[in-house]
Amino acid sequence: MSMINEINGSTKITGVFGYPITHSLSPQMHNAAFQYKKLNYVYVPFEVHPKDLKSVLRNLKYLGIVGVNLTIPHKEIAYSCVDVLSKEAKLTKAVNTISVRGNKLYGFNTDYEGFLRSLEIDGNVNLEGKSILVLGAGGAAKGVSFSLLCRRIKSLIIANRTYKRAEDLVKRINKMSEVNSFAIPLKEDIIKEIIGDIDIVINTTSVGLHKEDKSLLSHKVLHSKLLVYDLIYNPYETPLIKEAKIAGAKTLNGLGMLLYQGALSWEIWTGKSAPVKIMRDALLRAVERSKENKK
Ligand code: ATR
Repeated sequence: MSMINEINGSTKITGVFGYPITHSLSPQMHNAAFQYKKLNYVYVPFEVHPKDLKSVLRNLKYLGIVGVNLTIPHKEIAYSCVDVLSKEAKLTKAVNTISVRGNKLYGFNTDYEGFLRSLEIDGNVNLEGKSILVLGAGGAAKGVSFSLLCRRIKSLIIANRTYKRAEDLVKRINKMSEVNSFAIPLKEDIIKEIIGDIDIVINTTSVGLHKEDKSLLSHKVLHSKLLVYDLIYNPYETPLIKEAKIAGAKTLNGLGMLLYQGALSWEIWTGKSAPVKIMRDALLRAVERSKENKK
């Protein structure tokens, strides 16, 4: 990338902290946007061990680092390290974006709005009155559920392998909102009973990430009026998305969420509107390259 030749003493550094970090597609997306808008910024992936995160964050200002993204497993630790929290970061108790302003660290959660934008813009969905089934009850499920609660959805059903975790998440949802919410075990025969009333299925589990993974739900359980959203984007088409297509359902993968959370972070750091199309094209190219590297 020609930009590398243009790095100089005034270049503002942004990046992503994760552990591990090797598979991140964010550098391609952010650097393409900086280049397109001719901004003297660069975005670099850093592998930061969780035990070091706190001291690294405290010292960002000394390195000219103006902002960072946090990915697995840093979002919760970052939440307790920043000086100022956005509304979304408070709500989710997770920070995926930090902006360094003087001596202070500002923490944001752009996953929250990024997820909603991907559903509403890319999926062309009006969430009002919708019944939604979330597969999983971990950190990603929490983020997704809390953002859905700020729309006028009808019901939110949490299905998880470990039933107790689904129950715990539903308790939190019920404390926060009036939305009809209940827990079920993540079993096909149980999901079959309720799927007729569901509009949107969202997979937040890690099932589908690995080559040997089988779909949590067969096409026989799904139906053509569904939108099936898998938060995973690599592989681009998970076994669940394949089953959903066989059932004739609409599908979305996690690339849109990655895109919109990235665009929102980019805007926080630069104060300018993000070139979303440029960022999407860069992500798609990065996905293609990572497919070729796996061959
Ligand atoms: P994250 O923060 O990415 O959500 P997590 O908190 O570890 O990660 O949650 C992972 C989710 O994937 C959980 O809902 C987990 O189910 P359990 O609570 O029963 O562990 C789910 N998950 C992981 N592997 C799974 C599998 N093989 N089958 C079904 N669910 C699985």
